Amino acid sequence: MLEDLKAPVATAEDDSLDTDDSKQVLGREPKVKYEPAKNGVTVVDIENSGSGFAGLGKEELMKIANQPFWVRLRWTLFILFWLSWIGMIAGAIGIIVITPKCSPRPVWQKYPVYQVFSKSYQDTDFTSRPNGQSSGIGDLEGIRQRIPYLVDLGVKTIGLSVIFPSPMKDVGYDISDFMQVGEEYGTLDEFDRMVKEAKERGLSVVLDFVPNHSSEDHEWFQKSINKTDPFTDYYIWNDGVDVDGQRTPPNNWECRYSAHNPSQIKSTENGDYEVEKEVDVATKTGECGSAWTWNEERQQYYFHQFAQEEPDLNLRNPAVVEEMKKVARFWLDRGIAGLRVNAAPFLFESEALENEIDLPNGQLSNNHTFNLPEVYAFLLQIREVLDDYSSKDGMERILMTEGYVDLDDLAKYYKNNGEMIAQMPMNLGFTEVTDSDMTGNKLQQFISAYLEKLLPESMWPNWVLGNHDRSRVATRVGENLSDSMNMIAMLLPGTPINYYGEEIGMEDSPDSKFIDRGNRNGFRTPMQWSNETNAGFSEVEPWLAVNGNYPNVNVAAQDAASESHLKVYRELVKIREMASAQYGEISFPYVDEEIFSFVRNKSGNPGLLVAVNLGDSNRFINFSGNGLPETLTLKLKNVGGTPDISVGSTVSSTNVTIPAKNGFVFSY
Ligand code: GLC
Repeated sequence: MLEDLKAPVATAEDDSLDTDDSKQVLGREPKVKYEPAKNGVTVVDIENSGSGFAGLGKEELMKIANQPFWVRLRWTLFILFWLSWIGMIAGAIGIIVITPKCSPRPVWQKYPVYQVFSKSYQDTDFTSRPNGQSSGIGDLEGIRQRIPYLVDLGVKTIGLSVIFPSPMKDVGYDISDFMQVGEEYGTLDEFDRMVKEAKERGLSVVLDFVPNHSSEDHEWFQKSINKTDPFTDYYIWNDGVDVDGQRTPPNNWECRYSAHNPSQIKSTENGDYEVEKEVDVATKTGECGSAWTWNEERQQYYFHQFAQEEPDLNLRNPAVVEEMKKVARFWLDRGIAGLRVNAAPFLFESEALENEIDLPNGQLSNNHTFNLPEVYAFLLQIREVLDDYSSKDGMERILMTEGYVDLDDLAKYYKNNGEMIAQMPMNLGFTEVTDSDMTGNKLQQFISAYLEKLLPESMWPNWVLGNHDRSRVATRVGENLSDSMNMIAMLLPGTPINYYGEEIGMEDSPDSKFIDRGNRNGFRTPMQWSNETNAGFSEVEPWLAVNGNYPNVNVAAQDAASESHLKVYRELVKIREMASAQYGEISFPYVDEEIFSFVRNKSGNPGLLVAVNLGDSNRFINFSGNGLPETLTLKLKNVGGTPDISVGSTVSSTNVTIPAKNGFVFSY
């Protein structure tokens, strides 16, 4: 039985054993006797084990423990223990500190820039209008009222086109007062209110800045004609040359917009006027004629890169540069976040006035009138003005520039001779893409060449899909591919710069009321908000007719629809927030004439694959073997995309079916 098992038990006296006793105890062999089982009970007798405890006593232990050797050992271990802890913590902190981090992107990098063509965005009958009525022209109050829409869209930077007083010979780019708001757009107070409210909702405003020219109606030009100082040399004047007794312009330089020659203007039945023939905006076809126009009063020619109603400012005159800086400060003081410099390559011409060379294609070379090095020096001064503001309040002011230049020159707009100039020299390559000439290979070559140019300086890329000078992207590439173009521009490294209406697939309007210089009205028609009268743009007849497709193509309808361009756009803004879209490397897993695809991948994060079929037949592509896993998950497809695969479902990367004119965004 268990109770018969007699085990020795240490008693209190045992504890008090002196050292000798304990030695005895330690030296004794315990004797164990077994008695054979009786009636199933085995007795075990451990002899002399009454003294029990066989370890060191407390005092003995303390004595040993206090020996210098043990004390030193203890301290050494104690210190080593804590040192290794501190070392580990310091190491962990060190790793965190030295690991390259993804610094948070400024908003102009993280979110799309949205270009508003002020005259066509939203008309209101705000009571400050001269007659308190809608005018058929978009205004600042209208833009203010649409801020919630922009917030919802997910854009954070509004690129605001011209809002200045203008005789409208170049739809507002002929400015007659740089420091005022045109009556039709509203008032300075309304401007302030719009900017303030935008700021409160997390949006900033980058304003158009036109230092190349003014309107002929500008006070400076009028005073310059009269040689009233200091305005005498505010513009570029020349006596011309005498050729066989005939006064002629000093050289063969040509302008870009033909004059509104009255003989070319016909009245239409409804009382509007129409210009029969115009030249294209960016080409010199020789139809514009001389860039020098004779002024009777001053008895001199003045120079104009664009229309004759737009005399070029003389930016070689330091007083004019000071004036333009003053203009910049005027608007910066009113809270704008940056400037978009228009027509930047046209700012300077050669002082020696050499003739341009006649090229075999009938055009002129533009060595003496286009993108001279002085352009960068001028822009640098404007950047310095912006930087002054940024350094005061820590809010970065942005310089954007507009110019159709080659990639080498575009890179110089970022940084020239070691000086930082623009944060966003607009990359206008995509504004020229059309369905007929777009191939996967061409897209990849253009994108790679551009990114490689910027890479050495780690400059921030941008992608402009459209603007007020170019046919709308949905018209150029077709409705389906317009979603794909948004996928591409949104998910490439850099900032997409969208033109109003691109988010709903707005197209060029064929029926515009009159023909503008360069025939650009078709892509400046009113924003299509709803299927109400005038697409919800205005209560009265708009300055340009609304595109006839507005009953179907409008914000309200696309908001309500289960799938729409608007929803694709909003989703893309969200996808852009993913680490791979913001910080990921780019690679091109499969590209040919019809297929364009790219991957964005930031290690440790879900990656993205954008795959577009530009061709007319379905394609089956094996994307595997490019660091892509076996399975891809569909995140987004274009409107009207194939019903065969739904968002959220998975496909094998070895065989992805991409129907004709379809685009997909996959994650993995
Ligand atoms: C800029 C504008 C364009 C204008 C031109 C001349 O390029 O974008 O619309 O016509 O300058 O003012």
